[in-house]
Amino acid sequence: MAQQLAESLPRGRQELTHHDGIKIRVFETPERTSLAAAIRIIDVANYNPLAAITFATGETMKPVYEELAGLAHILNISFAGITAFHLDEYWPSEPDNPFSFRNFLRKRVFGPLRIPADNIHEIDGSAVDLQEEARLYDEALKRGVDLAILGIGPGGHIGFNERGTPFDSRTHVANLAQDTIERDHERGEYVSDKALTQGIETILEADQIILVAYGEEKGRYLAEALYGEISENCPASALREVGHKVTIFVDQEAANVIMQARDWKIQESID
Ligand code: F6R
Repeated sequence: MAQQLAESLPRGRQELTHHDGIKIRVFETPERTSLAAAIRIIDVANYNPLAAITFATGETMKPVYEELAGLAHILNISFAGITAFHLDEYWPSEPDNPFSFRNFLRKRVFGPLRIPADNIHEIDGSAVDLQEEARLYDEALKRGVDLAILGIGPGGHIGFNERGTPFDSRTHVANLAQDTIERDHERGEYVSDKALTQGIETILEADQIILVAYGEEKGRYLAEALYGEISENCPASALREVGHKVTIFVDQEAANVIMQARDWKIQESID
C-alpha cells in the first residue's frame, strides 16, 4: 500500500513564486493537481487534529474531496476533531435541494470524513432573515480558520464574492453576477441569483489559503488576479494582500496561461 501511495504521489513539475509571495504549484494533469491539494488538506488535519477548515464546493472540488476521503481512510487520519465551515450557499436552497452546498458537502466531505455534526457550521440556505444568518455565521468564524479551500469562478470570484465586492466584506448576502448565473444554467444546475457567502475579509483571515484550478479558462481568471491590478474588479486579486499564506494548485494548462501573463508583465516592465 505504501509503495502504491508513494508511486501515486504527485511530484510538483514546477513551483512558481509570485512577487506578492503566493506559491503556485504546477502539476501535469488535473488528477495530480487534485491529489496534491488533498494531500495538503490531510497535512493540516494531521498536524492539527483540532483545525478549523472552510470548504468550497463546485466541480473543481469533486476530485479533491474524493482523493481526500480516500487518503484519510488509507492513512487513518481522523477528522473527528475538525471544525468545518461552508464557504458559501445558494439562497434560497431548501435542505432537500440536491444542488445545495449543504448536500454537496455532506455527501462528499462531512459524511466520508465522519466530521461530527456538532463540529459542522452549515450556512442555512433556507434562512428567512438573511442578514441575521450572515451575521451569526461571521460570529462563528471568529473562532479562527486554519485552512480555507477555494476555487475560482467567472470574473475571478472567490466564494460568491463577485466583481465589485469590497475587500473588507464579511459574510453577507451576494447577488450573483450574470456570468455566474449563466454558467450554472449551462451546467443544468440549480440556478439562483442570490447566495450567502463568506466575505473577502473573512476568507483572508484564514491562517492558510489554498486555491485549486484546472484548465485554460481558470488560468485566465488567475492570470488576471495575479498579474492585473489588485482591484475589486477581480475579487481573487485580494489574495495578493496576504500572498505569504496562499498556495495555488494548478494543472499545466492553467499554468501556461499564468506564465504567459507573467512574461507579458516582465516584458512590459522592460519596455
Ligand atoms: C463554491 C464557490 C465558488 C467556486 C467557483 C468555481 O463553493 O465558492 O467560488 O469555487 O465558482 O466553481 P467550479 O469549481 O464549479 O468551476
